[in-house]
Amino acid sequence: MPVLLIVLVVSLLGTSFAAESLRTAAHGKVRIGTAAKPGFITEDSRYAAALAREFDQLEPENEMKWSLLRPAHDRFDFAPADELVRFAKQNGMAVRGHTLLWHQAVPKWLGEGQWTWNELSQLMADHIQTVVKHFAGSVYAWDVVNEAFHPDGSLRSTLWYDSPGIGAEGPYGYIERAFVLAHAADPKAKLFYNDYAFEAGGPKFEAILAMARDFKKRGVPLHGIGFQCHFTLDSITAEKLAKTMRAFTDLGLEVHITELDVRLPVDGTGHATSQDLERQADVYGEAVRACLGVRGCNAIQVWGFSDARSWIPRFFPGYGAGTLFDQEYRAKPAYTAVIDALSQPAATAASRK
Ligand code: G3I
Repeated sequence: MPVLLIVLVVSLLGTSFAAESLRTAAHGKVRIGTAAKPGFITEDSRYAAALAREFDQLEPENEMKWSLLRPAHDRFDFAPADELVRFAKQNGMAVRGHTLLWHQAVPKWLGEGQWTWNELSQLMADHIQTVVKHFAGSVYAWDVVNEAFHPDGSLRSTLWYDSPGIGAEGPYGYIERAFVLAHAADPKAKLFYNDYAFEAGGPKFEAILAMARDFKKRGVPLHGIGFQCHFTLDSITAEKLAKTMRAFTDLGLEVHITELDVRLPVDGTGHATSQDLERQADVYGEAVRACLGVRGCNAIQVWGFSDARSWIPRFFPGYGAGTLFDQEYRAKPAYTAVIDALSQPAATAASRK
């Protein structure tokens, strides 16, 4: 075989073996996850194939929320969430649970009910015990409470906190209680508090940190903080994100990136400019580098992985193209940036601080 041909074959092989997926690039460093929906798996073979190929962690985008899990007061529906858990097991993926308490995705019967303090406490306790026990051994980490703080750091007014609420006792009443209940239901599960728009610091970050300190001091079973990371082009640098992560890992907590995406302005067909796609790649790269630089940041999860199947256009009109794959499941510059960041030698555990 002529030398040139040998060189070509070897380099092609090298390319395909070096990092054929996100999960191989992340192997031994962090878990790489995504939010997923069971309907997409069954109706879209390209979605299912990419999900299994690229990720070693999955989180139900909606199916473990009250609204889907508990359609009526006297009825749980575990089927859609179980379907996702099955898919994860078949494909060697870990499962994160999301979420036991949130002010959104509350079923009508619960949100519009007239509850006494006792009734609401009982509902919350029953729900957490039933759900966490159902998924014990399958779900390794739970977002126990999601988005409990306002941007100014005060506790958000919610069904659970104060309307009618069960949050009156102690500064973090219902939140603390939820962690204790979840821990009793599955002592092996890692329990997370999950939120957004605190990743770069500020009053919400300070409030979450104060709660984390208080929980650690008093032995409330909090094990980690979820950094949602719904970013725009100018959201963050790796240094800034790593700094806020370290504030929590210094307390002995784990951190996960839980809902990473980077939304872009798009045209009428949902496409962004090529310049913005390059800048988006930089933001993804920064987020991954931040996590890999922090000892205790053990998972990077995106909130959907294809522009064909993303929550963004519905929630942010005029924006979209926020994920790693385009509408035709072709890898975008952001995908390459994540693979590159994951493949850096500095990403090894020993080099983390
Ligand atoms: O299932 C119904 C369907 O029957 C109905 O026809 C349709 C009409 O609107 O609605 C469908 O439910 C929607 C559900 O997604 C399933 O697709 C809800 O309206 C819609 O509100 C819901 O949105 C989800 C949202 O959370 C609220 O639960 C998004 O998919 C999901 O991406 C988003 O995820 C949140 C995280 O949980 C927490 N952090 C922020 C993140 C983005 O908002």
